Amino acid sequence: MKKRILTGDRPTGPMHLGHYVGSLQNRVRLQDDYDCFFIIADFQVLTDHLQETEKTGQFIKEVLLDWLSVGMDPARSTFFIQSRVPQIAELTMYFSMLVTLARLQRNPTVKEEFQAARLRAMSYGFLGYPVSQAADILVVRSHLVPVGEDQVAHVEQTREIARSFNRLYGEVFPIPEALVGEVPRLPGLDGQKMSTSRSNAIYLSDTPGEVRRKVNTAITDPARIRATDKGHPGICNIYQYHSAFNSAGAPDIEQRCLKGNIGCVACKENLSEKINSFLEPVREKRAFFEARPSIVRESIKEGNERTLKEGKETLDLVHETMHFDYKELLEGVSE
Ligand code: TRP
Repeated sequence: MKKRILTGDRPTGPMHLGHYVGSLQNRVRLQDDYDCFFIIADFQVLTDHLQETEKTGQFIKEVLLDWLSVGMDPARSTFFIQSRVPQIAELTMYFSMLVTLARLQRNPTVKEEFQAARLRAMSYGFLGYPVSQAADILVVRSHLVPVGEDQVAHVEQTREIARSFNRLYGEVFPIPEALVGEVPRLPGLDGQKMSTSRSNAIYLSDTPGEVRRKVNTAITDPARIRATDKGHPGICNIYQYHSAFNSAGAPDIEQRCLKGNIGCVACKENLSEKINSFLEPVREKRAFFEARPSIVRESIKEGNERTLKEGKETLDLVHETMHFDYKELLEGVSE
């Protein structure tokens, strides 16, 4: 039996290159070796987007197209929507008893996201979303969680919850591990964390012209003024992109930059080309699936059904282990 993967995304907008190097690339690579479940976390959108819920349906479609366009494959993997698997909500209820408020308040990703969201106060659901994320991961009893660096805190929280449950009631859950991508934190065009809300991202769905325009506006080594100045690739935003999307050419770029033999403009042109040739097959795949909406629809319908079935199995096990099956009382009574 293959081990399981669970990971996924919030449907809040188009996915970007940071998502790709942080997590999508690993998902595509591991599809044959693991039984993969990919979640579209719509409950989790509510943490910081209580309004405009009418947009979520469109964002879900876009996430699906982003996934399909990079090669996540519904014939081998299971795609599903968080709110369509009610066992996740039930598991969240049990898990919520196993976590202290103080523990949640220490979660660095929750703190960072709360600040970025500029909300006046934190809801119970926002503070507790790592518990719900633990339920996402454990509802299919997953072993491995490919994620960006910012999500490692949540996987750590999940491990603690799984251990507590197993210790209290009995062995139900594996202790899952995080797997961080090759480039754990690709900076945005402004050098800060790449994110949709900061408008500093290159999207998987960007056109060649958009990529060139965005790369041209990106910050580079701030200590470099003239093209002949010696550069500092180690602190240059654009050099990090060369490492990620031009790994064969990066050492040469590095040497020329250190010596002042290539200017930022030429270096950026070179990078735009590399990013665009990486994105070319992605764009082709997107166009293919855009023209075939029934494949997209079927992928999520079948995935929801399969995850529901797995979720029921896990919850049967949880009920039994917690003595919540009430066998004697309910024996012979069909639910
Ligand atoms: N919190 C993740 C993000 O913002 C999305 C997510 C929801 C997730 N549930 C998950 C990731 C379970 C991994 C596993 O990107």
